[in-house]
Amino acid sequence: MGAVITGWGKCVPPAVLGNDVLETFMDTSDEWVATRTGIRERRISHVGMVELSTVAAARALAAAGVAEDDFDCLILATASADLHIPNAASRVQLALGNRGAAALDTNVGCCGFVYGLAMANGLIESGVHSRVVVIGAERLTTILDWTQRDSAILFGDGAGAVVVEAGSSGAGVLGAFLACDPVPGESLMVADLGNTPAHQRRSSPYNLSFDGREVFRHAVPGMVKASHQALARSGLSIADIDLLVPHQANLRIVEAVGKKLPIDSAKVFTNLQRYGNTSAASIPLALTEALEAGRVAPGDRLLFTAFGAGLTSAAAVVRWGERTERVADSGRELHPCTLSAMELVAPALKFQRQWHQNGQ
Ligand code: COA
Repeated sequence: MGAVITGWGKCVPPAVLGNDVLETFMDTSDEWVATRTGIRERRISHVGMVELSTVAAARALAAAGVAEDDFDCLILATASADLHIPNAASRVQLALGNRGAAALDTNVGCCGFVYGLAMANGLIESGVHSRVVVIGAERLTTILDWTQRDSAILFGDGAGAVVVEAGSSGAGVLGAFLACDPVPGESLMVADLGNTPAHQRRSSPYNLSFDGREVFRHAVPGMVKASHQALARSGLSIADIDLLVPHQANLRIVEAVGKKLPIDSAKVFTNLQRYGNTSAASIPLALTEALEAGRVAPGDRLLFTAFGAGLTSAAAVVRWGERTERVADSGRELHPCTLSAMELVAPALKFQRQWHQNGQ
C-alpha cells in the first residue's frame, strides 16, 4: 500500500515586503540580499498561521476532490504556532469542520513538512490512517527582530499542504530519511519562548540566536546526505529523479546541493526569490507552484530535501500518481488585508528599536 499525494494547495498572504522596502529601515541593500540569498521579496501575514493553514489545507482537499472535513489525520508542521495548548492542528481541524480525526503539531523547523510526510506514510502503511492532511505553515515574521539585518532578511510567511491517501498504483512515498544533530542546535535558536515564565526571560521575545555561516556549513552536507539515504531506501539513484524540490532557504545553498548530488539545474525548482525562507511551508508551497507551472508529469520521481533548526535534516523520494491537475478549487480565502507589509511590520520594529535603545 502506497501513500500517494492526491491533493496540494498553498496560501500566501497578500502583503509583499520587497528588499527595496527593507532598505528604507535597515542597513542593507537589494543587491546584498539578492546576491547572498537569491531572495527579492517575502510575504508578511495579516492573519494567524491557523488561518493560513486552514486555507492551504482546504485548497489541498478540494484538489484531491474530497470534502473539507473528510480526513482521519491532520499533521501540522510549524515552528511558529499561534497557540500551544491545545495544539494549532486542532484549531485547523475545527476550522475545516472535522471532528474526530487525529491532529498533531510537529516542530522540526524547516524539515517539518518532510518529517510530516514520512509520518503520514508510516501511518498509512501501518493501516492506522487512510487519508492524512500534511500542512507546513509559518508566521515567522512575528518573531523576527527587524533591527537584525543578518536574520530578518531571510524569512517570510506562508503555508502549503498536501493530502496523502492510501493507494495501490505504485505511486507514493518510496523512501525517506529523517535526522537531527543537536550539537550545533544553538546556531539557530529562539530561546525563552514556550514555558519560560515571563519574569525569568533573559531577553526580548524576539531573541533569534542565529549564526548564518554555521547553519550554512551544515545545510549543504545535511541535505546531500539525507537525499542519498532516501534515494538508497527507494532503490533509486539521483539520475532517476525528475524534479528536486528543495527547502527554499537560500539560492546559494540550493545550488551547492544541486552540484554535490549532482543534479541538472533544470531539474531543480525554486521560488524562494518571491517568498524567502518560509521554513516548514517552503516545500509544499514550492511543490504546489511546481504543479501549477506544469513541472510535474504523471509518474515523475520527485526528491524533497531540507534542513532546519535542531539542526534537522530530512529527505523523501515520491513517485507521483497519474493526476497533476486539481479535481476542484476551494472557495476558501483569507480575510481581506487592508495594511501594507510595512504597516504590518512597523509596530514590532518600533518596539524593538525602543528595546535596544534601552540597552536590553
Ligand atoms: N545586509 C548587508 N550586509 C549584511 C547583512 C545584510 N542584510 N547581513 C550581514 N551583513 C554583513 C555582515 O555584517 C558581514 O559584514 P562584515 O564582513 O563587515 O562583518 C558581511 O555582511 C558578511 O556576513 P556573512 O554572515 O559572512 O554573510 P554570508 O555570506 O555568510 O551570508 C547568510 C549570510 C545569512 C545569507 C548565509 O550565511 C546563509 O544563508 N546562511 C544560512 C541561513 C539559513 O538559511 N538559515 C535558515 C535555516 S533553515
